[in-house]
Amino acid sequence: MKNKTAVVTGGASGIGLETCKLLAEQNYNVVLSDINEEAGRAALMSVKSDGQNHSYITADVSNYEDVKSLMDKTKDIYGTIDLLVNNAGTGGKEYKKTYDLPNDQWDKIIAINQSGVFYGMKVAIGHMVAQGSGSIVNVSSLAGIKGSQTGIDYSASKFAVVGMSKSAALEYAKSGIRVNCVCPGFTETPLLTDGLASSRKDILEKLKWAIPFKRFAQPKEIAEAIVWLGSDKASYITGQTLIVDGGLSI
Ligand code: NAI
Repeated sequence: MKNKTAVVTGGASGIGLETCKLLAEQNYNVVLSDINEEAGRAALMSVKSDGQNHSYITADVSNYEDVKSLMDKTKDIYGTIDLLVNNAGTGGKEYKKTYDLPNDQWDKIIAINQSGVFYGMKVAIGHMVAQGSGSIVNVSSLAGIKGSQTGIDYSASKFAVVGMSKSAALEYAKSGIRVNCVCPGFTETPLLTDGLASSRKDILEKLKWAIPFKRFAQPKEIAEAIVWLGSDKASYITGQTLIVDGGLSI
């Protein structure tokens, strides 16, 4: 039986890399994509192959031509795109309230976190409609379902991911395409430890205290939810938002 093919954006680090590793364990051909070529190629070496054929392709998700080329190359190499994980994302450098937020930071976060997901879905869906099947998992955040103080840019982009996932799910259900969304809580990756924590050294302990499980997620725990939701085991689920947050949102 032919292996399925999965594309993972932002696959060089954190949640994206753990997702690539799990997909490989489940016999997918994995296309690991990232904006950082050196890190991406190194990451691919840690994705085990048991006869599958994995690839690395550089793409900046905020650039439509890059995303189109990523999907088209994948289709050329493997024949199908069975699963797309729109994972690439970033946080702002400045944690400022609305009035003080620099416009260029707003533009950058929306371009990567929001337009990047739109571009990925737009191009992949073209191929998936033609093949008559496909599954997309978009990575949002707790910041995509709850308000946050000092983060209107990130929050806007992640609420958009939830909305876009539901809209695309409705539009393409008849074409055999499922679109779902995972909202991670605080997860131990460079985005959390280098980003948020570097601006406020005391913040990690305070955040942990607020989480019912009293710990951050490991990236593999988020990857497990992504891979399951993207697989045929979740075949009757579409347009849903799966919150993986150690109970923080409750
Ligand atoms: P990470 O920083 O470990 O990995 C992000 C990856 O995305 C990096 O390899 C980076 O090079 C890549 N990337 C950044 N900009 C890109 C672009 N324009 N095009 C292509 N690739 C790009 O971060 P992490 O934590 O693994 O984040 C993955 C996703 O999870 C993001 O969408 C993030 O917003 C989301 N998330 C993370 C949480 C956390 O606490 N770590 C919580 C909630 C959501």
